[in-house]
Amino acid sequence: MSQTPVVETEAPAEEVLSVEQIKAMRERRIKKHDSSGVLLHWFNAACWLFLVATGLATVSNPAYAIVPIEWTRLMRAVFGGTSGLIFWHAAVGLLWAGVLMVHIVFGWRSLTVPFLKNNFWLDRDDVMWLVFRAQRILGKDVKLPPQGPFNAGQKIFGIIVTLGSIVILLSGLVLVFRPYVPDTAWVAWALPVHLFAVGAVCTGLCIHIYMGGVFPEEKQAFFSIFTGEVNELYAYSHHRKWYTEVKKEEAEWEEKLRDRYERTNNRKANELVRHEEQEKADGQSFRAGISPAADENAEEKAEED
Ligand code: HEM
Repeated sequence: MSQTPVVETEAPAEEVLSVEQIKAMRERRIKKHDSSGVLLHWFNAACWLFLVATGLATVSNPAYAIVPIEWTRLMRAVFGGTSGLIFWHAAVGLLWAGVLMVHIVFGWRSLTVPFLKNNFWLDRDDVMWLVFRAQRILGKDVKLPPQGPFNAGQKIFGIIVTLGSIVILLSGLVLVFRPYVPDTAWVAWALPVHLFAVGAVCTGLCIHIYMGGVFPEEKQAFFSIFTGEVNELYAYSHHRKWYTEVKKEEAEWEEKLRDRYERTNNRKANELVRHEEQEKADGQSFRAGISPAADENAEEKAEED
């Protein structure tokens, strides 16, 4: 019989959730992607679809040909021949790179830095997650270590996409602007390098699309890339470290708000007390038959005498 291995994790101790807690957590939503991230993702996916479909048909050397000749003929017919196909492939490639650059630069703090921070570092839990995930696929009943906003598989895909995109962009620029490239060796290398990087990203994409779009356990992640949100129960059971972090930030924010509210209330209460004391003092003067104004006049008169 297989035993659940014990793994030291950075997450808080496991708690057993009640049925009510589970129901409530299923109702509550947590923001995972902001709208610019969602739009960028689908723009990226649409460009990739177009670029892979047209790019593979531009390969005329039979040594590199991956798709059947029928596909190549179809694409060339649609885009008005080989030069039209290459033109549109290069144009969409440059548009893709341009939009990505704008997002990287202008979304540096909100998009780029969080993406690099969340994806470019694998800790011990991530390594163990990869081992246990493989064991689960092989049918072993093991518990997965807690994860941040992205699990170790998504992180590896994120690294492949980032590095692959840089290589694809640079080699693509060499191919598009080949008449201006000083060394012909660069042009000769650019095509195999371009194809190799596309192959690496496409390999990762097959797993990414299966895990994100088909795998039942990740249904919440699939909807999150449209709505930007996941439910708390999914965050708690699949991305515990991220869930804990979000809850901590929420608690700190609430504490700050409560603090500010209390300070405002105290100030208002003090003002009210001061106001009431003043009114009481004024009222006593009237009751004694001396209005504050009369009181002042009396003092002035006494001074004159
Ligand atoms: C039909 C195609 C695709 C589907 C169904 C899909 C699905 C998803 C899902 C569900 C997520 C959210 C994961 C989560 O938050 O847990 C995601 C994120 C991501 N996807 Fe895709 N994807 C597709 C195409 C692509 C393509 C073509 C690329 C790039 C080459 C890509 C790159 C990414 C990246 C980098 C993230 C992380 C986004 C972030 O940091 O906010 N995806 N995808």
